[in-house]
Amino acid sequence: MKAITDCVAAHPVTDHFYPDEYDVSVTEDFGLDDLTLDTVGPRLGLKWTEAGDGVIPAWVADMDFPTAPAIAEAIIARAGDLGYPRWLTDPAAGPLAEVFAERMATRYGWRADPAHVHAFTDVNQALQVLLHLTTRPGEAVAAHVPAYSPFISTFTSMDRPLLAVPMVPDGESWAFDVRRLAADLSAAPHCRTLLLVNPHNPTGRAFTEAELTALAELAERHDLLVLADEIHADLTYAPARHIPFATLLPDRTVTFTSATKAFNLGGVRCAVAHVGPPAVRATLAAQPAHLYGSPNLLGVEATLAAWRHGDPWLSRVLAILDRNRRMVAERLPDTVGYRVPDATYLGWLDFRGLSLPEDPAEFLRREARVLLSSGPSFGPGGDGFARLNFATSGPIMAEALSRVSSALARL
Ligand SMILES: Cc1ncc(COP(=O)(O)O)c(C=O)c1O
Repeated sequence: MKAITDCVAAHPVTDHFYPDEYDVSVTEDFGLDDLTLDTVGPRLGLKWTEAGDGVIPAWVADMDFPTAPAIAEAIIARAGDLGYPRWLTDPAAGPLAEVFAERMATRYGWRADPAHVHAFTDVNQALQVLLHLTTRPGEAVAAHVPAYSPFISTFTSMDRPLLAVPMVPDGESWAFDVRRLAADLSAAPHCRTLLLVNPHNPTGRAFTEAELTALAELAERHDLLVLADEIHADLTYAPARHIPFATLLPDRTVTFTSATKAFNLGGVRCAVAHVGPPAVRATLAAQPAHLYGSPNLLGVEATLAAWRHGDPWLSRVLAILDRNRRMVAERLPDTVGYRVPDATYLGWLDFRGLSLPEDPAEFLRREARVLLSSGPSFGPGGDGFARLNFATSGPIMAEALSRVSSALARL
């Protein structure tokens, strides 16, 4: 039996590959940590094509690891039967709901209701739909900042002003000021929505029970709808743990998630929303059937396979990521501020102590030949920072960190 990584290596340049045999029950390491710059590319996706020749991409939140064998097998098995899916006109139907609920119960002890699950093509779409249905232009939305860049542009393009909840350094980690948020909400009665990204992108914080309880109390007091983006939940490192916000405030919470981050499936276009508030469910159900489209059939197959059979692969990935998040701390110079994340494969790097002549991401792209995400695109609190994606093998990680350190040493 061949692992799928062997098949990828054997077919590196085509735009698709057809592994002839692989074993979904493999207990091996999937070869994930063996990728080198010579074997990883060329890749056709955005992450690698945007970086260009000779530049190591460490920006957009895709991992370098090839698809889990169980997922590839599921996609290939369905590839001969691509007619309209049976849930075409009803995004609340279909097989995702039960599997999502089972996964939430097993991993997080959350008894999600399959009848409250609605499928979307991606989390960005789901957020925009929910904002469109539950808020009006001009009404503010509270969110921790810095924030995942597409959400910053969503607020601007939809005219939902941002009520910023700044993440501030707190010892070895990040925190936010609940009292300040309470005061800001009192001063902004038109803000009735909290977008809670937990685990948080870009800082990698997994919010604690105490923090989430404080947010739940504020949500009750200020009558907030909580839009909880928990897409990074499966990438939480022990002893930190992920607590679904819906377990604290079920009737006020819409939870968004997807298998795309933990299982590296950004291209499959499939996400779910668990809509707790009955009024929001009714509004969503009243929308015309085709208005928001429906997820791709193969995206649904990939998601089902990931959630049912992908965990051995995910465990291996988590072991590599756990090692890498520490490697960043060990190998970057002390002049770069870095707080080891509780979750995600994203490091939020502070270059303000270095007095760089330009945006750190621009500087590192040119001088280190490593592409990070530019801090200012994450909104308030982003200047002087850059986000490092460390979801790659040991050899590639070591090379990227060595290039960054050398470029900084030449300053
Ligand atoms: C917090 C967060 N939400 C949503 C997304 C994007 O999800 P999707 O591709 O399903 O829109 C990302 C991608 O990195 C993310 O980090």
